[in-house]
Amino acid sequence: MALKLPVYLDNNATTPMDPRVLEEMLPYFLEKFGNAASKTHSFGWEAEEAVDIAREQVAALIGAHPQEIVFTSGATEAVNLAIKGVCDNVAGTDYHIITIITEHKAVLDTCKHVEKLGGSVTYLPVNANGLVSIDELESAITDKTILIAVMYANNETGVIQPIRDIAEIAKKHGILLLTDATQAVGKIPVNVHMDGIDLLTFSAHKLYGPKGVGALYVRKKNPSVTLTGQIDGGGHERNMRSGTLNVPGIVGFGKACEICNNEMAAESKRLSKLRNAFEVELLVLKDISINGQDIPRLPHATNVSFGHVDGEKMIFEAGSDIAFSRSSACTSATLEPSYVLKAMGLSDEAIHHSFRFSFGRFTTEEQTGHAIQVISKIVKEHRHEGDHGHHQIV
Ligand SMILES: Cc1ncc(COP(=O)(O)O)c(C=O)c1O
Repeated sequence: MALKLPVYLDNNATTPMDPRVLEEMLPYFLEKFGNAASKTHSFGWEAEEAVDIAREQVAALIGAHPQEIVFTSGATEAVNLAIKGVCDNVAGTDYHIITIITEHKAVLDTCKHVEKLGGSVTYLPVNANGLVSIDELESAITDKTILIAVMYANNETGVIQPIRDIAEIAKKHGILLLTDATQAVGKIPVNVHMDGIDLLTFSAHKLYGPKGVGALYVRKKNPSVTLTGQIDGGGHERNMRSGTLNVPGIVGFGKACEICNNEMAAESKRLSKLRNAFEVELLVLKDISINGQDIPRLPHATNVSFGHVDGEKMIFEAGSDIAFSRSSACTSATLEPSYVLKAMGLSDEAIHHSFRFSFGRFTTEEQTGHAIQVISKIVKEHRHEGDHGHHQIV
């Protein structure tokens, strides 16, 4: 069978839905359409029961109790609820948050909002591998610090932060730890107890579930975290997020989490093999560097800097064969160079030649093989053209 083009290698932006997830969701659009908050008839009970099952499936994937899960419209909303909800719970604005400069915009922009309200935020740098320094983190703590927000794994590079070490520091100082685990959950083992996390955000569409649904984990014990809801209404989700629940979305999210829980171990092995082979093939081209290569990374993603290619042209020329991205999807509309790679010390020039390839459950060896062929051809052509240009000048 002919390979269907373009090959999708942008699973960090979003994943295609697993057909098993769709199948589970379908009845909740039609015959099982009840409102999970309706207490007086079977339509409501049926919907509520489905949400309860999904809540268990979602909680199980991160080792949480179902009652610690608050359903939201996605990770962005969950991050907003976590940060603003914690801040709102403190009298006044004399508080301090610590985060890192390579966070997703969901965290960075919410922190900016908090600053506008009068709170203060420290944005810690990262090293050349994209990692935060534990010593710098501890030094940044003041008696006003109420929250540390450090992502589990980066969306552009896949680099995994030392969350357990960070949790130890947070615990020692009695500060809450929020981790945006949107890219990590369902891909690598994440356990809120073993990792020492108080608040955690993730999203269904990054793990083969539907778009528009996500969750915030809010620790109930040791410590019991209290949050002020940011959307007022009927007091749904234990007063933390009002609004009629997106039952089909939540059912799909639950199923997606269950599948990840069952298949993650084998799948991450398969994907890391595929990714490593992809990198080996690219490195043959020389003048290639893999950002964050030597440290723990997500198994399915790679961020590659290609020396001596025209970044813009590469996207254009490869576009009909491969769907990949320059930086995160959220910032690719702007021409700003990636702030994540910049924070890792890459020059604007190098960033311009850097691309993210992220594989997923439906990525095959045949697809990555095709991508390698296309990229290799383009890189060689660019370098050849570059050589000619060089000779002409000299
Ligand atoms: C690390 C990270 N955080 C948050 C988000 C936002 O998630 P959502 O699309 O569910 O709002 C994304 C997705 O782009 C992400 O990669």
